[in-house]
Amino acid sequence: MFVFEKHRLVDTVRNEEVMHDWEKPIMHRMAKFVCQDGGDIIEFGFGMGISATHIQKQNIKSHTICENNPVVLERLYKWAKNKDNVIVLEGDWYDNINSMKLYNGVFFDTHRDSHTSQFGNLLECIARVGCRVSWWNNVPREYDEFGLEQNVQYEVMDVNPPANDYFNHRKYYMPTTTMQLTR
Ligand SMILES: C[S@@+](CC[C@H](N)C(=O)[O-])C[C@H]1O[C@@H](n2cnc3c(N)ncnc32)[C@H](O)[C@@H]1O
Repeated sequence: MFVFEKHRLVDTVRNEEVMHDWEKPIMHRMAKFVCQDGGDIIEFGFGMGISATHIQKQNIKSHTICENNPVVLERLYKWAKNKDNVIVLEGDWYDNINSMKLYNGVFFDTHRDSHTSQFGNLLECIARVGCRVSWWNNVPREYDEFGLEQNVQYEVMDVNPPANDYFNHRKYYMPTTTMQLTR
């Protein structure tokens, strides 16, 4: 069961944090990168909606959000009520692949996702040329989790998280890439 608290989203069954608002500066930076050319944006994992809210502040055409947790989905639908460029893909992103289109920006931040290793392959199918991509990096160094055949760059950010279940470092290595494939 996911429960929203003041500063975090918690999985009470596993007794672990899914998301925490100390990540806000990272989420904002990632959102800015992904949305810098506008157009159609897709986001994997709504969580506390921190990144989604910042994506909405950018000059974009559409904002597709894929989310699979029922508690988070309820919050997502409420949040999306007056936002006419939001498209919700309900369920595991892996089961929604056929509903995806081509995007100018991709924001990937899921949690305990058994299909994460497939993300690199999916990217080539949903990215327009020049698509801006960023994803959560849980490792405090340059680390290309998806082994992309792409030039991945890292923006190093100073962070100061409160003690938490998943990231307790003072430097965050934000990965980004710009898709060079031709389509
Ligand atoms: C770390 S949170 C996302 C945080 C978000 N970026 C924010 O700023 O609040 C991860 C989210 O991914 C969702 N998620 C996990 N696995 C998923 C999957 N396979 N498909 C879709 N959503 C998934 C979780 O339910 C959770 O809402």
